[in-house]
Amino acid sequence: MADDPNRAVPRHMAIVMDGNGRWAKKRFMPRFFGHKAGMDTVLRVVDLCAERGVEYLTVFAFSSENWKRPADEVSGLMSLVLVGVAKYLQRLADAGVRIRVIGDRETIPDKLKAAWDQAESSTANNSRITLTVAFNYGGRWDMVQACRRAMNDGLKPEQVDEKTFDRYTALAYAPEVDLFIRTGGEVRISNFLLWQIAYAELVFTDCLWPDFGAQQIDEAIASFAKRDRRFGGIRETSPAAAAVDS
Ligand code: FPP
Repeated sequence: MADDPNRAVPRHMAIVMDGNGRWAKKRFMPRFFGHKAGMDTVLRVVDLCAERGVEYLTVFAFSSENWKRPADEVSGLMSLVLVGVAKYLQRLADAGVRIRVIGDRETIPDKLKAAWDQAESSTANNSRITLTVAFNYGGRWDMVQACRRAMNDGLKPEQVDEKTFDRYTALAYAPEVDLFIRTGGEVRISNFLLWQIAYAELVFTDCLWPDFGAQQIDEAIASFAKRDRRFGGIRETSPAAAAVDS
């Protein structure tokens, strides 16, 4: 499924944007202040990624589990999206960014659904970079919804293989994730893309999301470029190394 394993720049980068709350706390500010700064970081990062040749950037903005946060933080995040779409959509559209949103849209407020629909439709013809916002998303939800839709289409068990299943997942339009980054110091996936990161290279950084920028992107890409991606195969350049490698 992955195209050129030797490419130096990932085609598809996925980010868990963690650390907004701690970033705000360090400044004696409410958590929302961190999320607001985090939104500005998304705008900066999408541009930096496009400049470096990344074609798909997928960010985890609100997880299926984030509903467990205090009600005012949840509604704050929802309002941030509404304000963000109103304020930044034109700028993203003019910069050639295509916006796509993945996640369960059944259980989000109607206003938000409308904002996401507008963001998607008004950037549908853009192709410089695709920014996918994972909102009310969970990796397990994604696999379940894929199964349900496949069954709904009447697929027989023997018709379901990895390729077919992939077509029902939320990121079916994108190539596999090459580079997965998590900011904020935690070393876990937190139910973000599960199916799609099977062979992704993983980078974990202590940098808090609002501080994430060109330096951290370049470090992550440099680290990615040094990795030897074998997708379960063996190294072709060094038979001796391949023999001891599994
Ligand atoms: C995790 O930090 C961050 C989130 C749950 C929200 C991420 C949202 C944004 C960056 C803004 C919205 C962006 C878009 C594209 C709609 P945390 O709150 O868990 O931080 P902490 O670990 O320091 O508490």
